[in-house]
Amino acid sequence: MKVSIIGTGYVGLTTGVCLAWLGHEVTCLDTDAAKIALLRAGKSPIYEPLLEELLRDVMPQLHFSTSHEEAISGAEVIFIAVGTPPLPGGNPDLSYLRQAVEAAGRYLADHAVIVNKSTVPIGSGNWVESLVRGALEESGQKKHFAVASNPEFLREGTAIFDTLYPDRVVIGSDEPRALDTLYRLYRPVLEQSFTPPANLPRPASLAAVPLIATDLASAELIKYAANAFLALKISYINEIGHLAEKVGADISQVARGIGLDARIGTRFLQAGLGWGGSCFGKDTAALISTASEYALPMQIVKAARDVNQRQRDRVVEKLLQELKILKGRTVGLLGLAFKPDTDDLRDAPSVSIIRKLIECDCRIRAHDPVAMERFRAEHPDLKITLCDSAADVARDADALVLVTDWQQYRDLPLAEIAGSMRKRLILDGRNFLSRPQLEKAGFTYCSFGT
Ligand SMILES: NC(=O)c1ccc[n+]([C@@H]2O[C@H](COP(=O)([O-])OP(=O)(O)OC[C@H]3O[C@@H](n4cnc5c(N)ncnc54)[C@H](O)[C@@H]3O)[C@@H](O)[C@H]2O)c1
Repeated sequence: MKVSIIGTGYVGLTTGVCLAWLGHEVTCLDTDAAKIALLRAGKSPIYEPLLEELLRDVMPQLHFSTSHEEAISGAEVIFIAVGTPPLPGGNPDLSYLRQAVEAAGRYLADHAVIVNKSTVPIGSGNWVESLVRGALEESGQKKHFAVASNPEFLREGTAIFDTLYPDRVVIGSDEPRALDTLYRLYRPVLEQSFTPPANLPRPASLAAVPLIATDLASAELIKYAANAFLALKISYINEIGHLAEKVGADISQVARGIGLDARIGTRFLQAGLGWGGSCFGKDTAALISTASEYALPMQIVKAARDVNQRQRDRVVEKLLQELKILKGRTVGLLGLAFKPDTDDLRDAPSVSIIRKLIECDCRIRAHDPVAMERFRAEHPDLKITLCDSAADVARDADALVLVTDWQQYRDLPLAEIAGSMRKRLILDGRNFLSRPQLEKAGFTYCSFGT
């Protein structure tokens, strides 16, 4: 099928590459000309494992453009995957969506299906439909079209896996024809009938993927409700972790003890300094904002956000408790990305922690395996020293804070680090390192929830 994807970021590019792998003819469109130039040269503008390899494999099926007319004309399915960043009040900024949809309306082929993959407030499907209708009227065209919602659940770091082998595909539309079109598009995924990429075999247990076909509003709500639930789960274990510290319990044991109950599950129960990234903060804020339009307070979601914010503050509190004075201290940060295997820094805990520590007159040294270049570009106001290695971060530091649980930090050169730090203090923000190993090497080890 001929597919157009508007917005070539983490979601749009992954979707485009995977749909091309399935055999569709895909054009990815972006207003960022530098991004498109890079992609045309077979290079990925983002760090995402396996993405660049697969991109090169599917080049004959995958095209890139900065022209809305070129990308949209003739496409049977048009995905909107532009950013919907948060506005100060909590509502998402829908200006990119509006531009994308209006352009789609101008160049749309007859009977095309416009699919919203961006995370948008409930009711946006109706708004998109009216925008397209307006664009068609303005250009004096009469065309049939349908609008659908196809929320995205990929996780950065495993985006290709999640797209080819998803837990479920959700498609919402009030038009049966749109559901049929998207069923045809996703059939190879739903039936798992495609040939897997050589370096990403199909999980042995996966025979078919469930399709959840809904009305528009339900699909839109599923996305927000799913993200809010995951955020809640993390904040819940962090709240219990805080209590565990007071009563002398160990949150890792508590989490295992409750998570092995099949009704609860062990995932998203790791205590630490909380969630970050482009979705949980933004989507919980948007959910609260939408609910407030119906006079619903969404107390449980608000509490999850408060607990998450507090976890970041607790990094500074814990350092203060150990070091007594923060002024003039050097703090080393291991990890900047909001989670491992990505270079994404949106709402990264590292950024708020750095800001707080700079306010306390600390000097910051930091390392990240892939996100340092992006950090320099996105946060030129934050004056910190970026280091080539974890060992370099530790030099003359009064404390090390593990912010991102990159696998490579599992085996820190402890003897070298112990010899070069001013104080041997490690605050493990992800409960990821080995306490016995660190204590044996002479460190004071602090974590969350013990
Ligand atoms: N990143 C994730 O893990 C994730 C997961 C699920 C859902 N989502 C949702 O998917 C959407 C996209 O997220 P993302 O992380 O891919 O964003 P992103 O910022 O990485 O990418 C958005 C892209 O859209 C482009 N763009 C903006 N306006 C455009 C226009 N009018 N025409 C063409 N291109 C345009 C931008 O230049 C950018 O490259 C958001 O709504 C987000 O909430 C993201």
